[in-house]
Amino acid sequence: MKPFVQKLDELTPEMVALVDRIVEEHGNDATQLVGILLDLQDEVERHYIPEPAAYYLAQRLEIRPTQIYDVITFYSMLYDKPRAKYTLEVCNSAPCRVKDSDTLVETLKRLLNLEVGEVTYDGRFCIEKVPCFGACDVSPAVRVNGVVYGNLNSEERVLDMLRQLD
Ligand code: FES
Repeated sequence: MKPFVQKLDELTPEMVALVDRIVEEHGNDATQLVGILLDLQDEVERHYIPEPAAYYLAQRLEIRPTQIYDVITFYSMLYDKPRAKYTLEVCNSAPCRVKDSDTLVETLKRLLNLEVGEVTYDGRFCIEKVPCFGACDVSPAVRVNGVVYGNLNSEERVLDMLRQLD
């Protein structure tokens, strides 16, 4: 493992500014570590906690880096490895399956030449099946980075949705 100082050397000024802002938004309060990590992960392009950022965050909050990694390990919604820029979450709960979310998954797989859980070679897309995210009224739907795209019941609509992701 690289020494602590070397990890901090890998920090970019942009990452320092991002961590500083998020920590300040949380009142410099280490007890809000989970919220801080979720906000940080949201804003990092590949939606994970980069190692230099984790070490800098530890320094800012005056806690040990292992405390940060304990939290990342404990919460399944936190990641320490890069994910896709756009994770296409398709609801896999019964009401959406009745409304043919399986066909939506198959369409996404075919259009992106991708299996569920894989990431495209350029790191842009991943397809995931998730439980209900409250878009039952516009099912079949995809949620991407917190934004819902509903009524994706034709290939044309799915293509439109993908085009909206830059
Ligand atoms: Fe699928 Fe609610 S059951 S979004």
